[in-house]
Amino acid sequence: MKRTRIAVVGVGHLGKEHARIFAGLPNVELVGVADANLDQAQAVARKHDTQAFTDYWPLLNLVDAASIVVPTTHHLAVAREFLKRGVPLLVEKPLARTTHEARELVELARQHRVILQVGHIERFNPAYEDIRSRPFQPKFIRAQRMGPFTGRSTDVGVVLDLMIHDLDLILSLVDSPVESVQAVGMSCYGGHEDIANARLHFANGCVADVTASRASPTSSRQMQLWGPEGCAEVDFASRKLVLVQPSEQVRRFGLDPAQLDAASRARIREDLFTRHLELLTVDGKAQDQLTAELSEFIDCVQTSKRPRVNGEDGLAAMEVAERILAALRQHRWDAAHTEHVGPMHLPKPVGLLFPHHVDQELA
Ligand SMILES: NC(=O)c1ccc[n+]([C@@H]2O[C@H](COP(=O)([O-])OP(=O)(O)OC[C@H]3O[C@@H](n4cnc5c(N)ncnc54)[C@H](O)[C@@H]3O)[C@@H](O)[C@H]2O)c1
Repeated sequence: MKRTRIAVVGVGHLGKEHARIFAGLPNVELVGVADANLDQAQAVARKHDTQAFTDYWPLLNLVDAASIVVPTTHHLAVAREFLKRGVPLLVEKPLARTTHEARELVELARQHRVILQVGHIERFNPAYEDIRSRPFQPKFIRAQRMGPFTGRSTDVGVVLDLMIHDLDLILSLVDSPVESVQAVGMSCYGGHEDIANARLHFANGCVADVTASRASPTSSRQMQLWGPEGCAEVDFASRKLVLVQPSEQVRRFGLDPAQLDAASRARIREDLFTRHLELLTVDGKAQDQLTAELSEFIDCVQTSKRPRVNGEDGLAAMEVAERILAALRQHRWDAAHTEHVGPMHLPKPVGLLFPHHVDQELA
């Protein structure tokens, strides 16, 4: 098979990993990397024995495919030029800064009949793949994605930075239009919301409660799902899935404690996960999600297969994200002061939660 000539545009924190993985894939030739920061481009190029550029323009005619890993604000400007020339693209998540921009990319890909994959990497998480393969209709979903601030992705808030992962997963699991959105968000560092919570109501009756924070001292990426079949707890970080379903007995006859004899009632707690509810723990296979995602992109380019997460999926997640942003910007924090609205205009603090640490006080 002909080798796919590929380039990575933007080789910062994540893009340098794209370059490393592409350089090691069979049937792929990493023809170059581009980064506005010349030192960064040269360092990555040297490592993988390829060419360094400070601009993507010279790459447009050198490649069969490209991966766009520049900050979100620049996705449209860079991706547009490749799509216009019919070059298949992997664009990192979120697809663009706004739905307007995302729609332009989707439309360009459609016009030029070119593959547009979006880097929603959690779709390659074995725990997600497992839950997706089971007969399950989630009707209530709770997702949390929290961690400390990395100092990156400051061009967008936490909804487009982190929550977008869960929005994409939830949309793919629920497959029903979002009817209504309620949301709140707070800014911690200024500029954008850094903490957000949204409640989504779907036309099929499913409700999702989604929280994201980049101001949390501990990291967690978790989802709980409940449906008529049972419930699932997913830990995306450890790729672990815990499934609970009613036993055959409970499924048929229910569990009415009033009907149990005194001894069985006394034992209900000990018997809960043996007799009444069945429990299954699934440890997801240890797979490098980024390698799986990039390998599948190359496979799609070489075989013209539809990507697992295409431009329309990326746009759908953006559309919900934008509704969340609109809702949280309108949230009123008190009844009396109309200026206390949205993530940037919280009421004044009434005090310190605890005294400042002396060594952190400003001189
Ligand atoms: N899928 C995921 O889990 C995930 C994780 C992290 C980042 N991302 C996404 O990847 C993208 C990049 O994030 P990052 O954390 O690597 O950012 P980063 O700031 O570390 O890297 C971006 C790089 O792009 C370069 N750059 C900026 N504008 C450019 C341009 N016009 N042309 C060429 N190079 C340019 C910068 O010099 C920098 O080296 C963002 O869209 C982000 O949302 C996705």
